[in-house]
Amino acid sequence: MEHFEYPQLDKFQNASYIQPIEEFFKTDPQLLSPSSALYVHIPFCPRFCAFCNFYKVIYKNDGTANDYVDCLCREVDYYADRLPDNYLNLEGIHLGGGSPSCLDSALIKQLVDKIRSRFNLGSDHLISMECHVDNLQDADYIKRLADIGINRLSFGVQTFIPETRKRYGLSEIDRVYRAIENIKQSGIKNFNTDLMYNFPGQTPKDVIHDFEELFCLGANCVELNAMGIMPNSNIYRQMQNDNMLLEFQSNIDTFIEMYEYIESRDDIHLVMANTISKTPQPPNVCNSFQLGGNKVNGGAILGIGASSRGFVDGYVYKNYVNIHEYMDKVKAANNGVALQRTVDMAERYARMMVMFPMFRHVMKKDIDFNYTQKGMLDKLVEQGLIYEDDEKYYLGKAMSFYSGNLSLNFVTRTQKDKMMMYMYNSMRNNLNAYNQDDMQMSKQAGLRPAPFR
Ligand SMILES: C[S@@+](CC[C@H](N)C(=O)[O-])C[C@H]1O[C@@H](n2cnc3c(N)ncnc32)[C@H](O)[C@@H]1O
Ligand code: SF4
Repeated sequence: MEHFEYPQLDKFQNASYIQPIEEFFKTDPQLLSPSSALYVHIPFCPRFCAFCNFYKVIYKNDGTANDYVDCLCREVDYYADRLPDNYLNLEGIHLGGGSPSCLDSALIKQLVDKIRSRFNLGSDHLISMECHVDNLQDADYIKRLADIGINRLSFGVQTFIPETRKRYGLSEIDRVYRAIENIKQSGIKNFNTDLMYNFPGQTPKDVIHDFEELFCLGANCVELNAMGIMPNSNIYRQMQNDNMLLEFQSNIDTFIEMYEYIESRDDIHLVMANTISKTPQPPNVCNSFQLGGNKVNGGAILGIGASSRGFVDGYVYKNYVNIHEYMDKVKAANNGVALQRTVDMAERYARMMVMFPMFRHVMKKDIDFNYTQKGMLDKLVEQGLIYEDDEKYYLGKAMSFYSGNLSLNFVTRTQKDKMMMYMYNSMRNNLNAYNQDDMQMSKQAGLRPAPFR
């Protein structure tokens, strides 16, 4: 289960009446979150990686990106015109993707200036942007991003193993070194890199080597993503043909060794279940708000752009995934919303508990036992899967590896039933079973990884 997607919005089960956000505020004026963060999805990539089945399009210099940014700006206006004042105080902005770095810096500036003109954002607040390593080869581009106010960059390294990089369509490793050099010169001090584990043939020691290397190079955080192979995708079919699926699924557990290693080190800290750093620090605010801030009213996340999702108190919405459907909707209604629903208190508390393993702890004072089974927590403590002290329930370091499994214990019965229908309907309709994004890869040529044997 993808944490960001809980509770799920299903295009087959929730495609009923769309209640605009202002109606929600009229009917439920009980505004509880203290502040908000903004997530902007920018689905362009310079090229596709063979394992990635998230929604994205190849960037072309044909004006689509300009149209897209105009639509994002219209959505900024839409929410700024309607949201109550406390939600206009942004704690941070995250430009995610895809690879927002495909965009010319002038377009990034247009967008950031627009957000600043309509929302309140302190000068020291986070403005974070995801990048593709190929777009980080030009030092001047990164300096221009710094001038716009971008103060955190994140990009995917995935692995240092040259053959694996080649097989999955990743750039030459020299580009990673050049990108990091350029980031350092730009004056942006905060950069995150993503690694993936469980590539065929990769060992836990390879991943340990990779994050040690990234820390040596100055990465502030490293995100460790378990490779997900979605049913129906090209890579799934390729693995099926190569009789690799079973091996792939059973190999995953060996990577606990990586977490045991992290546990043995006093100088590597788990910021979130899948994010490590050499400096103890709170999780980045956008990421935290997307997961509910570890409280039932921990912060609202506003989402704009194709496939974005927002969660504002008891109101959740998801935008159209396809970039053209999204832009058509924005041009007609100034927002890209495709699905929405209200979320009652029971589900909101369930959400907090589902997300808690990602934060690695939850404060007892924030739990409402009218909604959360104490028996479940006691059982997990008894089994040694989580611990408790006077103030909180918390995970041991190595249990972070199983955070997804722990989360499942807190999914409500109704949600579990819905999730089964969601998966069934998604797979029947050739959609990504985790987030219903268009699988896409199957329609693109040249994306299959080479056979494994
Ligand atoms: C959506 S990408 C955005 C970053 C940027 N486009 C890049 O690739 O450098 C964020 C991260 O998702 C992770 N990711 C992509 N496909 C994945 C998959 N199939 N399973 C697990 N993680 C994946 C990768 O670590 C990637 O860096
Ligand atoms: S991993 Fe990043 S660069 Fe690769 S296809 Fe996915 S979004 Fe694009």
